[in-house]
Amino acid sequence: MTARGCGRVRSAGPDILKTDAGSIARAGEMIRAGDLVAFPTETVYGLGADATNDAAVAAVFAAKDRPTFNPLIVHFADARAASRRVAFDERARLLAESFWPGPLTLVLPRREACRISLLASSGLDTLAVRVPGHPVAQRFLAAAARPIAAPSANVAGRVSPTTARHVVDSLDGRVSLVLDGGPCRIGIESTVIDLSGDQALILRPGGVTREAVEAVIGGIAEFGGGAPANSPGLQDRHYAPARPLRLNAACARTGEAFLGFGRDAPKGPRGDVMNLSPSEDVDEAAANLFAMIRALDRKGISAIAVAPIPDEGLGRAINDRLRRAAGVGA
Ligand code: TXA
Ligand code: MG
Repeated sequence: MTARGCGRVRSAGPDILKTDAGSIARAGEMIRAGDLVAFPTETVYGLGADATNDAAVAAVFAAKDRPTFNPLIVHFADARAASRRVAFDERARLLAESFWPGPLTLVLPRREACRISLLASSGLDTLAVRVPGHPVAQRFLAAAARPIAAPSANVAGRVSPTTARHVVDSLDGRVSLVLDGGPCRIGIESTVIDLSGDQALILRPGGVTREAVEAVIGGIAEFGGGAPANSPGLQDRHYAPARPLRLNAACARTGEAFLGFGRDAPKGPRGDVMNLSPSEDVDEAAANLFAMIRALDRKGISAIAVAPIPDEGLGRAINDRLRRAAGVGA
């Protein structure tokens, strides 16, 4: 693609655009023309395509090397737009009222007149829907005037991007426009809740905690290991850096990098030793997780040793990602 100004901040590779009105309008045009655009949400960056355009959705799977049996999340400007495509029940209405716009994805039955690409939901009769809260995502959805199918903007199975630079590092040559909205505030993907059956089920812990969900709809089951047939994306090995992870480590062994948590974490040269949250704040740790794993994942180290993280609040989502990245299942 050719450069055309619009606050362009980089000259080679894809256009990374600061998010002024011109760049958002151009991103919207590109979506309507069937192109792919990477954009920020408050969780992670997404690789977006017009969800009603089969060829554009196919291009997302191709750009990520993502198996087509792993369905995508479709993003909407608001709950009303989503409810035209999927059937909301009372639980879905309550959760949408409480957490949208925000880091929550609901899996709901497709309506007969859904008209979202079947490929986006891998041929399932359910669709994952989300209304993101990031102001750039909101403006982008308005400019595109289309539902946007968007997985995280990384090669399948690898670490999700939380900055525009991460997107380029992962997908250079596979996306022509990245909207740069700065680092993602939450830094870990949305919570995915399956409401297609009688029993509400957390398929993936994420930016909305289980406690917060239960305060709205009462007890919810949490999916606990292996990949359920209805959510093929929850494979045991996922979110993985190139080097192995060693979990619940007290310190680094020779040759390892160390990812610490809390006041007592060992100190060392930045580059080899990083701390997710010196003040033991799991929200801060979630926001730092993927960027720090990327920074430590360098040639020459044998593994990344990771300190134990408290399994509460966003810590549950962090531990889920760490276990998958280490290949030890959820
Ligand atoms: O925070 C997020 O959720 C980000 C941003 C961009 O919205 N997106 C994201 O998408 O993490 P992705 O594709 O990396 O993860 C979507 C997850 C996958 O595990 C997939 O299997 C599951 O949602 N999923 C999507 N549609 C589904 C469906 N119809 N039924 C069950 N699981 C579904
Ligand atoms: Mg992903």
